[in-house]
This record gives sequence, structure tokens and C-alpha cells, in this order.
Amino acid sequence: MSKETSYYVTTPIYYVNDSPHIGHAYTSLACDALARFMRLDGRTVKFLTGTDEHGEKVAKAAAEAGVAPQEFVDRISARFRALGTTLDFTNDDFIRTTEPRHIESVRQLWRELVKRDWIYLGTYAGWYSVRDEAFYAEKELVDGKAPTGAPVEWVEEPSYFFRLSAWQDRLLAFYEANPDFILPATRRNEVVSFVKGGLNDLSVSRTSFDWGVPVPDDPGHVMYVWIDALTNYISAVGYPDMNAADYRTFWPADVHMVGKDILRFHAVYWPAFLMAAEIAPPKRVFAHGWWTNEGAKISKSVGNIIDPHDLVARYGVDQVRYFLLREVPFGNDGDFSHRAMIGRKNGDLANDFGNLVQRVLSMVQRNCAAAAPEPGPFDSADRALLDQAWGSLPTLREQYARQRFHLALIHLWGVIGAANRYVDEQAPWALRKTDPARMNTVLYVLVEVIRHLAILSQPVTPRGAAKILDQLAVAAEARDFGQLGAAGAIPPGTALPKPEGVFPRHDPDAMVPGS
Ligand code: MSP
Repeated sequence: MSKETSYYVTTPIYYVNDSPHIGHAYTSLACDALARFMRLDGRTVKFLTGTDEHGEKVAKAAAEAGVAPQEFVDRISARFRALGTTLDFTNDDFIRTTEPRHIESVRQLWRELVKRDWIYLGTYAGWYSVRDEAFYAEKELVDGKAPTGAPVEWVEEPSYFFRLSAWQDRLLAFYEANPDFILPATRRNEVVSFVKGGLNDLSVSRTSFDWGVPVPDDPGHVMYVWIDALTNYISAVGYPDMNAADYRTFWPADVHMVGKDILRFHAVYWPAFLMAAEIAPPKRVFAHGWWTNEGAKISKSVGNIIDPHDLVARYGVDQVRYFLLREVPFGNDGDFSHRAMIGRKNGDLANDFGNLVQRVLSMVQRNCAAAAPEPGPFDSADRALLDQAWGSLPTLREQYARQRFHLALIHLWGVIGAANRYVDEQAPWALRKTDPARMNTVLYVLVEVIRHLAILSQPVTPRGAAKILDQLAVAAEARDFGQLGAAGAIPPGTALPKPEGVFPRHDPDAMVPGS
């Protein structure tokens, strides 16, 4: 498999101190849409997610639950897997940092860094936030707290350090040479100015607790949870075996998808660790924004956590997926509100897309003997609409390549809008009596446009898209992007099953289980 046709996308691995919420669902959903898009476009994809199971935060959560750490992490990790089932995620792998394949990998990376003298033993004396699992300099504190608002504690202990200070110029040169390494551009600027501000050596081991990967040759230390966690991205492709088929196919990763809060770890520490070990850094880190809930910051203490399982139960999987990727320009912060969610479900999905499909397929069913009609010659209106549908792929490729999911969806809904206008203008119901041959052409054009819309919407609304393709009698193996345009055109005369509604309107009586 050549690197050009492979695509490797990763989510952050999630801390197992708590159950999954909408923030986790969001990061993974973006990766899922990307992975699905690339597979449909003929690439060999590896989509990785998993759980981050070591460190002080997780150890404390286990102690509070009165359970041994391994038992605790097994339990919570399973909930993150279940989230994938609820949201139709298609990850190819699920990595856990307590797995032997990962422990071996991170220990080897450590040895490579020691061998090249990038790690030395010293003493850490400074501030640490368990919630952020991050070290903070005195000057970074705001009113005695971490800049994130998390409490900090004074830590003084023997520690290994990574010579991060030596990487300032090399990192700046790397960002300069790879302008798309950090997206969106505003985030890139933040990272560049952080690095320009100077880098301190980074403490990379802890001695005050033992829930972590022991440092090779010095088991009194466990590795700092971030060096442990970041390494998952190469463990999953076979590191330290750099000849492993997956490693050769997929590394360097195409995109590490992260939230803006953990960009520094991915865009500063990670490429420095990798380059220091003479391993290629990933091609891109994309930092998305944060969701608030009806205007308020989401937090456990406020009690306004949005449970993705509840959302899906209330609104439907496709609807939640569509809403999250359409509502907010990807990269910006966004606000969740039930009003906005219902607006998208009823407006974009039920009215615009669902009704188009329902109207057209019902007319075909009634007026064309339940089979794809035989078209006559296409006029300029037909061609314009078909061209718009056929020409969507290059636009979508461009948007997906830069993780602009909202723009990809806006483009598709532009085609949906054009198709709805075409139905109104052509009025096929009136042609039935006056010009049945023309009615057949119009309905054929619409069937083909709907086939395109269904194929292209699969990454975001896979269930609805599959239902539409079933109703168009498109075989399961004829649903990829290679089938766009004339290649996969529905042969006139193809029998079409009885249409059923695809994107239902919101039922205000639908209750969230348990509420
Ligand atoms: N374990 C680390 C990542 C290690 S990756 C080598 C971690 N885990 S996390 O569980 O705390 O967060 C994972 C992701 O969830 C982050 O990308 C974070 O931005 C995202 N979100 C958490 N809350 C969020 C919102 N309210 N909104 C959007 N995403 C948010 O960090």
C-alpha cells in the first residue's frame, strides 16, 4: 500500500477518570466523518481511538471509587467503546495505554531519547495541575490557579527531564516549513508565539505515585502521562517495529484531531519527542473548539454534562452527527441548544433533504410503475442540476482535506436546495398529463441527483444515506465515490422498492431515558 493512498487519522485517547460526554463524542465524530470520507474515496484508512489510562488523575479517580486502578480503567474504557457503537464510529483500532503493545512502545521511545542524550535526571520543583496533568510555571498562574482554572499544587520530586529548551528553533523552523501542520491558522499563531516565548525543559517522570509505565532502568519513576499517552499514535501502527506493515503504510499520521485545550502537547511536545528520537512527526494537528451547553461552560460541578447517549436517544444518530458537524464552523467554539438541534433536525434534514427524497421517490413509485424512468434528452436545466451534483466531489475533497466539515455540508445542502427548486420549477406532477416523456426525464434527473446526495452524505449521516441508497436499489458495493457520475448511473427500468421516510421530524414527546 503506498502512502499516497493511505490515510491515518487519530482521536486523542480519552482519560478514563470519567464517563464520555459530548466533547469526547465530538472529537471522535470528526475523525469518523473523515475516515468514512477517505474510505469512500478509495483510500486505505486507519482510524484510531482509545483510552488514556495512566497518571495521577486516573489513579485518584480509581481510589475515590474504591476500586483497584486496573479494574477501574477496564470499566470506564468499556464505556468509551460503547460510545463508538452508539454514534456509529468506524474506528479500525482501539488502543489502551495499559496494553503490552503500548507499554513496550513507550519504553522503547524512552530508550531512544536516553540514547541520544535528550533525557537527563534532575529535580522538579514547581506547580502541577492533576486535572490538566500539566506543569505550570509561576508566571503562567492566574490568581493562584492554572490558566485553565484548574487548581494547582506544589510538587518537588526527583524527575527526568526532556531537553525541550533545545527545540525552540527547530520547532519554529518546522512550523515555518509546514504551514498546514497546525490548523486552523489562528491556533497555529498561538503555538508559534508560545514557542517564541521560550521553552523550558519538560519534566517527563513522576515519583510520588506508581500508576504509570515504569521508566526503563529506574523503576522508582513512572513516565509522565503525556509522554506515555502521545506515544499511542505510533504504538498502534507497530512501533518499535518500524518495519511493521502498518507503520510503513500509515506513519506519519495524516491528522491528529484534538481539542484546543490539548494542542500544546500535540503541536509542541510531540513533534519534539519524535524528532529527537529521529522519527517523522505527524503531518497535521487540527485543534477544534469547545462546546458550551445553552451558553454555559460544560462541567461536572455545574451538572450540565451532555450525555451523548441521551442525545442520540432523543434526536437520532444521524441527526446528532449532522448537527455537531454543521452547526459550528469546525475549529470554532460552539453552543449546544435543544432549539438549534431541533431546528437542524426538522429544517435541514426532514424538510430539505428528507422531503426531497420522499416527494421524488413517491412520484416515481406512483407514476413510473415503481421503476427508474427512462429519460429523454436533457435540457439546460437538467444539465445544470446534474453538473452541480456530479461536480460536488472536488469541492468536498477540498473541504475534507482541510477538515472543513461545515463547508462540505453547506455545499451539499446547496445541491439539495437546487434540487428542491428544480422540482418546483419543473412541476413533474403537472407533466404527468401534458408531457409524460418529459416527466420521466425530470424524475430520472432527480433520482440521479438523489443518488449523488446519498453517496456524498454517507460520511456524516450514514444511516439515512444507506436507507436512501436502499430505496434506489443501489447495491452495497456500488456506494463509493467511484460510482459518482455516469459510472454508477441507475439503469432505467430498475425496480425501486416502496419509499419510506428517511429523516423524521422531531417528536416533542420523545423523552430522554431516565429524565
Ligand atoms: N487524555 C488526554 C488526551 C491524550 S492524547 C495523546 C485528554 N483526554 S480528555 O478525555 O480530557 O479529552 C479528550 C478530548 O475531549 C479533547 O480533545 C478535548 O478537547 C475534548 N473535549 C472535552 N470537553 C470538550 C468540550 N466541552 N467541547 C469540545 N471538546 C471537548 O485530554
